[in-house]
Amino acid sequence: MSGFSSHWLGLREPVDHASRSASVQAAMLDYLRQRHGADLPGLRLLDLGSGSGSNMRALVPLFGDKQEWTLVDNDQALLDASRQLTAQWADEILSEQSDGLQVRKADKTVLIRWLRADLNKDIERVLLESKPDMVTAAALFDLISPAWITRFCGALKTPFYTVLTYDGRSAWLPAHEADEDLLTAFHAHQMTDKGFGAAAGPQAAAVLAQCLQTEQFTVVRGDSAWQLSTQHRALLDLLHQGMVEAVAQTGRVSAARLAQWSATRMQTTDCLIGHEDTLAIPPGWLPKN
Ligand SMILES: C[S@@+](CC[C@H](N)C(=O)[O-])C[C@H]1O[C@@H](n2cnc3c(N)ncnc32)[C@H](O)[C@@H]1O
Repeated sequence: MSGFSSHWLGLREPVDHASRSASVQAAMLDYLRQRHGADLPGLRLLDLGSGSGSNMRALVPLFGDKQEWTLVDNDQALLDASRQLTAQWADEILSEQSDGLQVRKADKTVLIRWLRADLNKDIERVLLESKPDMVTAAALFDLISPAWITRFCGALKTPFYTVLTYDGRSAWLPAHEADEDLLTAFHAHQMTDKGFGAAAGPQAAAVLAQCLQTEQFTVVRGDSAWQLSTQHRALLDLLHQGMVEAVAQTGRVSAARLAQWSATRMQTTDCLIGHEDTLAIPPGWLPKN
């Protein structure tokens, strides 16, 4: 178990899809079309930390009529949930294998393989064996350490598109006097080890862009903040509960103050959670003019 429930991932999926940076997505499609042609036929995609498959479901409509996906995660329960959700999402199941499915979704034929791997140990092997045209990820990089990000950028030879990396912004209405202290404690918790060494947390997007530029990638960055309101009550409630649990573990805020903050958060009317999307194009890929 990774600690990410498919319930939480399911609640965030529509908000994640709506929040993606349109400009970074357009740049990603532009670069891929220069390389593969306007219809983007036969792309092979690798999704790192795929969870229940939200990133694939967002991207399938954007690519060509035949696609091959490898979805990698180390949490078997999420890989199983991903396969089940994908079967429900598809219009038709064309064939089934022990590690994958071929499905039809609208006018796309999509071959999907689920791979259980620990990316902390095996990222080089996963990149090499899946031979992707593009590596992608969603809501993953803030869990990762600067050292792993450096290692990943050194091993990466293809375009890379990652979305929804938390960037440290968190603003709630109505405000509470403990908001700032809570956020500081939450960030301290975020920067603990999440399986890749001490995580970059709110610094991840900046660290990632810097490492990619050091490796001579062309980097495009864009905003993908969540703008939540009362219509997202279930997501807001889980978000605030997750923050309370994380902050309690740090011991940096007293239980009484945390309880007061939590009571105010149950009345939240608006909330912004900052994220960033990142596109990285290897040097040899740039058009000559
Ligand atoms: C916040 S979730 C995001 C899931 C999915 N990308 C999405 O957007 O809904 C982070 C995912 O990274 C996976 N993960 C964390 N550490 C991992 C590791 N060492 N190897 C592979 N996957 C990992 C978790 O199991 C989880 O599915």
